[in-house]
Amino acid sequence: MAKNKTYKPCDLVIYGALGDLSTRKLLISLYRLEKAGLIEDKSTIIGVDRYEKEDAEFVDIAHNSLKEFLNDEIDEDIWTRFSARLAYLKIDLRIMSEYQNLQSATDPDSRVLVNYLSVSPILFKDICQGLHQCGILTHESRLVMEKPIGHSLKTSREINDVVAEVFNENQVFRIDHYLGKETVLNLLALRFANSIFTTNWDHNTIDHIQITVAEEVGIEGRWEYFDQTGQLRDMLQNHLLQILTFVAMEPPVDLEAPSIRSEKIKVLEALRPITENNADETTVRGQYTKGFQQATPVPGYLEEEGANTASTTESFVAIRVDIDNWRWAGVPFYLRTGKRMNYKRTEIVVYFKQLPHNIFKDSYRHLPPNKLIIHLQPNEGVEIEMLNKVPGIDGGIKLQKTKLDLSFSEALKKNKLFGGYEKLILEALRGNPTLFLSRNEIERAWSWVDSIQDAWAKNNDEPRPYPAGTWGPIASDSLLARDGRAWEG
Ligand code: BG6
Repeated sequence: MAKNKTYKPCDLVIYGALGDLSTRKLLISLYRLEKAGLIEDKSTIIGVDRYEKEDAEFVDIAHNSLKEFLNDEIDEDIWTRFSARLAYLKIDLRIMSEYQNLQSATDPDSRVLVNYLSVSPILFKDICQGLHQCGILTHESRLVMEKPIGHSLKTSREINDVVAEVFNENQVFRIDHYLGKETVLNLLALRFANSIFTTNWDHNTIDHIQITVAEEVGIEGRWEYFDQTGQLRDMLQNHLLQILTFVAMEPPVDLEAPSIRSEKIKVLEALRPITENNADETTVRGQYTKGFQQATPVPGYLEEEGANTASTTESFVAIRVDIDNWRWAGVPFYLRTGKRMNYKRTEIVVYFKQLPHNIFKDSYRHLPPNKLIIHLQPNEGVEIEMLNKVPGIDGGIKLQKTKLDLSFSEALKKNKLFGGYEKLILEALRGNPTLFLSRNEIERAWSWVDSIQDAWAKNNDEPRPYPAGTWGPIASDSLLARDGRAWEG
């Protein structure tokens, strides 16, 4: 991973600068990077959108975004420095001649052009062509792309092909914002810097692993996008599979992008295919109905604003994943993710194997397994569930479950946890591709997910209802119960 504290100044151009992602996340993250002194002095930030605006109006929009979403006081000195970098250009991204506007605003000879696409993928082709035709690209220029990068293997290839006509693969930075989360990156440290885990991380010691990404939110006014996408494509194809690859990969040779990417790809290659023959036993689709969240009534999926009441799109998915390689033979990974679940919770739970013989039958007929619980968000931290002797001089050795509990906010008080976008924007400015997805990786993930989607279509799999504010349909519990297991409570 990049060790350099300095990098060549950049012209960061945000396409779709007035949109949601830009105003809620990107501008806020850039301000925070400014505050941390991590934006190179001569860098500029250019907002591009199709509406006519003066620079000053864009600066006002950025200021209002900070007021609304920063969750902190705006520091006037930092703001003065930050706002001086901001400029705005009106470009209709479908009109090639309008890209000329970028020529006077950027300086590819002294600053690296970093193009951040925060727009619908429908526009990616025009943007690549527009940039190419206006002649400002150099071999140093970069393209940063947000998901969705396709909807299937086919559409993802179409996007990647369009981009590849203009940019080399090493200039393309595909974002999965989970890879910017401190706790996801900490998986590398946990696994490869601690011998207790490096030597206990395979089928000899681990029984199974659960990965839960539960969301409290519903579809947040994005009915149209979400209904064509569903939770499998929106969350599992990217975020959960990325977490899975970090948990399951072999030790990379070093922390450079090619080493990490090649180990992640090997995991994706080893995923056992799910087809119409095994989808019934290995997957569960769900859709929320009305219910309560923290005692507040919330509508069901089909009652959301703009809903098509006949929709069978899933807002929940649970899957048993098998990784067919030496390390993980016989160790299932259970993945689940859903919207409108009881509360927000992203965690990995590693269940170690039970001991072969129990000498503490007075306490437990079956000794419960040790568990490693990694809380990715919120309340970031790591817990190990163990058995200990209940203190006392009376009687024999009685056991009780206790937890070794490492809360990151307590243990690492002095080191502020940054959000995912700060990290990823910074790495894109630095030109370090380690935390971004390669084309190969994305296409492998799509190919595995497409097969599940096909299986559901062929089997006419209808989503099972679950009331909002719960942990998903009962069938999700049955998925584990069939294997004699249960979800972490
Ligand atoms: C996005 C999905 O990629 O991730 C959203 O499109 C989802 O539907 C979001 O809500 C979750 O991100 P986080 O960081 O809040 O876990």
